[in-house]
Amino acid sequence: MDKLIITGGVPLAGEVAISGAKNAALPILCASLLTAEPLRVDNLPHLNDISTMLRLLAQMGVEVTLDGPAGLVLDAGGLNNPLAPYDLVKTMRASILVLGPLVARCGEARVSLPGGCAIGARPVDQHIKGLQAMGAEVTVEAGYVHAKAKRLKGARICTDMVTVTGTENLMMAAVLADGETIIENAAREPEVVDLANCLVAMGANISGAGTDVIRIRGVERLDGAAHRIMPDRIETGTYLCAAAATGGEVRLTQTSAAYLDAVVDKLMDAGCDIVTERDAIRLKAPQRLKAVSLRTAPYPAFPTDMQAQFMAINAVADGVATIRETIFENRFMHANELMRLGADIQIEGSNAIVRGVERLEGATVMATDLRASASLVIAGLVARGETTIDRIYHLDRGYERIEEKLAKLGARVRRAH
Ligand code: EPZ
Repeated sequence: MDKLIITGGVPLAGEVAISGAKNAALPILCASLLTAEPLRVDNLPHLNDISTMLRLLAQMGVEVTLDGPAGLVLDAGGLNNPLAPYDLVKTMRASILVLGPLVARCGEARVSLPGGCAIGARPVDQHIKGLQAMGAEVTVEAGYVHAKAKRLKGARICTDMVTVTGTENLMMAAVLADGETIIENAAREPEVVDLANCLVAMGANISGAGTDVIRIRGVERLDGAAHRIMPDRIETGTYLCAAAATGGEVRLTQTSAAYLDAVVDKLMDAGCDIVTERDAIRLKAPQRLKAVSLRTAPYPAFPTDMQAQFMAINAVADGVATIRETIFENRFMHANELMRLGADIQIEGSNAIVRGVERLEGATVMATDLRASASLVIAGLVARGETTIDRIYHLDRGYERIEEKLAKLGARVRRAH
């Protein structure tokens, strides 16, 4: 299994380009299922999750052809197998995003239940409840969701909690339904808006994306389109945290601070100078960061996907911070690993109390999930001596060429097999 070996103590400096957003690309790739016309997608990140999704679509009969260094054309004209098998779904929970489009286009779908993951049980009951509200017959047996509907009907759906992929799945199911669908308590994440923009370019009739009420008026069919994936705000935030923690100065390009207000605010509270340009963001870190408390919540509040990275920052900041995780029930797996590097963290239910220490010491640690791995990378960049991070396949799911980008910023990092 690959590992990353980092020698800490170097302030990151220089410029690096941010890739397309994984969590926008995944639902947009699934949107190709909704039409027999080709969908061209650009600014796709080269990530394991993206390749898994492409394998899943290809085995359904979607033709995928390369189109430039970060572009693809997806043609679901030959879609003939509305099945998402367990062996693919178990490696990537976002596979559930094929459910809505398959029922909308083919009238049925068999999708393996994604099962839980390190950060929580992550059920999909809201996805199912919404499809049933639209008239689908849904059964769950032998670990598969089986959904059928001659044609979905528009419905008013209010999800029990804000769910990002739940909102995306139901929005895609609704675009070809008969009548109007209203999704209340909808997720407002920018990736939901990026998906909606792509669907509208394909001929869908959607309003309210980015607010908590999304209205979708069903149409008879969708056309092909060309869509450029938005920048990855979580990758952006991760590199900002790495620069902040190491006392560095960086400029991140092909991105924007537009969707990162809550994260930028916290980095400024921690003492960082941040300058935003049209499609870049610059950060200059102080000598020593100030501890910042935070509470995760749905967009536009502080994103849960940045919580682990801020725990690493607070581990070496001045003062005590309280981190409250309100989205997932088990998203503090990185705390134990950070403690192996010398961090002073106390977990009390959904709160983590982090007392900044003078210095972390390099050690061998283990990645447990995608953002936890990012937190360990940040800690390794700060720790004295060498840190080895095992099981970095987690990292490769969500960070494109991470050791290359970090090395470009001066980090001493290498991948070992
Ligand atoms: C998306 O996951 C993201 N993944 C996650 O990013 C992100 O952490 C999460 O949204 C929250 O922002 C993708 O977009 C591919 P949810 P998702 O449905 O949609 C509960 C990363 O690091 N819930 O918004 O699966 C659920 O258990 C990943 O890139 C139900 O109970 O998250 C959780 O507690 C990790 N029933 C809460 O809602 C449901 O049917 C929010 O989950 C759906 C969700």
